[in-house]
Amino acid sequence: MEVNQILHMNKGDGKTSYSQNSQVQGKILSVAKPIIHEAVLEILISNNIESMGIADLGCSSGPNTFLPISYIMDAIHAKRSSLGLQLSPSSTTEFRVYLNDLFSNDFNTIFMSLPAFYNNLKQEKGPEFGSVFVSAVPGSFHGRLFPAKTLHFVHSSCSIHWLSRVPPALSKTPAEAAGSALNRGKIYISKTSPQCVLDAYSLQFHEDFSSFLKSRAEEVVGGGRMVLSLIGR
Ligand SMILES: C[S@@+](CC[C@H](N)C(=O)[O-])C[C@H]1O[C@@H](n2cnc3c(N)ncnc32)[C@H](O)[C@@H]1O
Repeated sequence: MEVNQILHMNKGDGKTSYSQNSQVQGKILSVAKPIIHEAVLEILISNNIESMGIADLGCSSGPNTFLPISYIMDAIHAKRSSLGLQLSPSSTTEFRVYLNDLFSNDFNTIFMSLPAFYNNLKQEKGPEFGSVFVSAVPGSFHGRLFPAKTLHFVHSSCSIHWLSRVPPALSKTPAEAAGSALNRGKIYISKTSPQCVLDAYSLQFHEDFSSFLKSRAEEVVGGGRMVLSLIGR
């Protein structure tokens, strides 16, 4: 089976779920908050948007899933409040929010949290804020996920360093034995990995990130923005 069909974070909200074990990733999101804020303001300044397309790629499930969306809504609300904008219903902006992850992600847990998310939004921002439509888009961000020119803002945190496959030089090919011996049976780069293992991972990342960027280049409108946070070395 393809890697993108079987990989997922631990589902639900039990003790071993991603939902209860993603504080570090939550911290990374909070560090990125001012950057998200700035990018959203740049979009608002340079575009007159009636229906804003927002995507979070590799959203997983749990409290972190809704954090970036809340940050984006906070930024928009703060900007409007500072301008003293009283929106009439006809000028209300719509927000299309797309939550993406791999096919076996726990989208059901996300859907169960949606009523609370919508309620909070209404209470905090008021009824004039605009309509927010959240939907799920399962699939791999290494390829196309959205129709052309439909997104204004793309966010992804702690996700795009995930590769689409085991680098061929280390995978189960005829060179299997050699490949796995090269990395001493590990599935990651460690201190003892030889240079050729680093090169194999680097090459795969280059290939995957290029497809990621090519796909987003089709999907994001002119003047759109992306904020990507990823772990690197
Ligand atoms: C460490 S979690 C990060 C989740 C969340 N963004 C956060 O900050 O807590 C990485 C997520 O990326 C997803 N992911 C990995 N490869 C992906 C791909 N090719 N397309 C979409 N999602 C992917 C995983 O399924 C996982 O849910």
